[in-house]
Amino acid sequence: MAPLRCVALLLLCVWRSASTSIEGDLDYGGVPLWINRLLGEPSVLSLQGRMDRAWYRANNPEGCPQQCDCPIHWPTAVYCDHRALNQPHAGIFLCCFQGNNISSLSSSALANVTGLRWLILDHNQLQSDKLDLAALQNQTQLCYFFANHNHLSSVPSALPAGLRQLRLAHNQIHTISPGAFKNLHNLTLLLLQGNRLQTITQGDFKGLIKLNLLDLSGNLFSSVPRHLPPSVQQLYLSNNSLSALGEDSFMGFLDLKYLRLSSCGLRSPNVHPQVFNISSLVELDLSYNNLTTIPTVPTTLQYLYLEANEIQEFNTTSFCREVGPLSYSRMRILRLDGNKLSYQQLPPDWVFCLRVLHTSLNFILE
Ligand SMILES: *[C@@H]1O[C@H](CO)[C@@H](O)[C@H](O)[C@H]1NC(C)=O
Ligand SMILES: *[C@@H]1O[C@H](CO)[C@@H](O)[C@H](O)[C@H]1NC(C)=O
Ligand SMILES: *[C@@H]1O[C@H](CO)[C@@H](O)[C@H](O)[C@H]1NC(C)=O
Ligand SMILES: *[C@@H]1O[C@H](CO)[C@@H](O)[C@H](O)[C@H]1NC(C)=O
Ligand SMILES: *[C@@H]1O[C@H](CO)[C@@H](O)[C@H](O)[C@H]1NC(C)=O
Ligand SMILES: *[C@@H]1O[C@H](CO)[C@@H](O)[C@H](O)[C@H]1NC(C)=O
Ligand SMILES: *[C@@H]1O[C@H](CO)[C@@H](O)[C@H](O)[C@H]1NC(C)=O
Ligand SMILES: *[C@@H]1O[C@H](CO)[C@@H](O)[C@H](O)[C@H]1NC(C)=O
Repeated sequence: MAPLRCVALLLLCVWRSASTSIEGDLDYGGVPLWINRLLGEPSVLSLQGRMDRAWYRANNPEGCPQQCDCPIHWPTAVYCDHRALNQPHAGIFLCCFQGNNISSLSSSALANVTGLRWLILDHNQLQSDKLDLAALQNQTQLCYFFANHNHLSSVPSALPAGLRQLRLAHNQIHTISPGAFKNLHNLTLLLLQGNRLQTITQGDFKGLIKLNLLDLSGNLFSSVPRHLPPSVQQLYLSNNSLSALGEDSFMGFLDLKYLRLSSCGLRSPNVHPQVFNISSLVELDLSYNNLTTIPTVPTTLQYLYLEANEIQEFNTTSFCREVGPLSYSRMRILRLDGNKLSYQQLPPDWVFCLRVLHTSLNFILE
């Protein structure tokens, strides 16, 4: 038997204030800056404050709208961020119009533009009824459309079929236009967090056969929505008031790996004991709920966040159905801080079960 690597690992950690989000604004608000030579795609990083407008204008005088920046090392891009614009100007490959005053998108604005691949309209005032559907439909090369932090009330229909990422977080979206996704077979990422969705009906996500990441956090769901695309591997549902989780709440996914259910008001009596026994799961976030017991998780789970609950008991069977040379939990990170549990309460067998826990996070119980 391999030597146990659990010697000095302490499991539970002292209360720490709310953990900071790793993703932050970069994840959906940033501007592509560099082209990744291998993928041919820009990487998403904020450009603000990095560019001297006068220098770029002097070096790249042709075809750059007066109010915008056109980086010389990337001749097909136009940056018009934070310029109080009310109409987008069009570049060839990439347009960034973040933090302007754009409320409408007309087809004439993009009429002469072909080959547009990125269109970034975060932090504007876009309204669904002022979005000319034909404006985007002809952009057959468009892969990345970002309109986070706008005033959209529905997911637009007639989006171009080649889209790979659609980011519509923090709008007022309460409906999905019929057939909005029916042609989006290449979409892998869909951000809809911070909206007002209450239900998902059977046809809503039809067509999303490659969707990998779906963020529905911070909406108005009262139960786990049905009819989600089976291909989803990362499902984020935090900040919804979910009344209960049934045994089949997450059935139907082919390869669910990352599941986030933080701040959902979950209570142990309403959570089916087997709901998380999903063998593909890698990460499960149940922090900031009202759980009193630790639910059963698969031994293959590697990251479990349970901080800020009301957990009072620790039963090793939550992690290991049996313990042996090859039967142990693959858990690397387990957060149990901010619960009602003390180190003295841990049963002696936990060390044999949780033998690969990572030391770098301080799992120390007071
Ligand atoms: C934004 O546009 C509206 C009208 O569309 C106008 O009333 C308002 O002053 C504009 N705001 C800025 C900051 O330009
Ligand atoms: C599109 O091209 C036509 C013909 O060159 C021109 O008249 C029109 O102003 C252009 N539209 C825009 C929005 O640039
Ligand atoms: C879309 O493209 C078609 C064919 O190229 C053209 O006839 C039509 O006017 C375009 N529509 C818009 C809104 O640009
Ligand atoms: C979807 O992606 C594939 C592979 O990259 C590409 O061949 C196809 O043209 C794309 N579909 C659309 C509608 O752009
Ligand atoms: C949940 O809501 C809180 C408060 O509104 C917010 O600070 C937090 O970022 C949200 N988290 C997620 C994952 O949406
Ligand atoms: C947890 O329960 C307490 C009382 O039992 C309640 O005050 C609190 O709002 C609940 N928290 C959540 C997130 O539901
Ligand atoms: C969890 O699921 C596996 C199959 O995925 C099954 O063999 C096992 O019995 C389940 N565990 C419990 C405690 O029901
Ligand atoms: C732990 O859970 C198992 C299965 O639910 C149960 O048989 C056992 O009595 C529990 N142990 C403790 C100490 O509560």
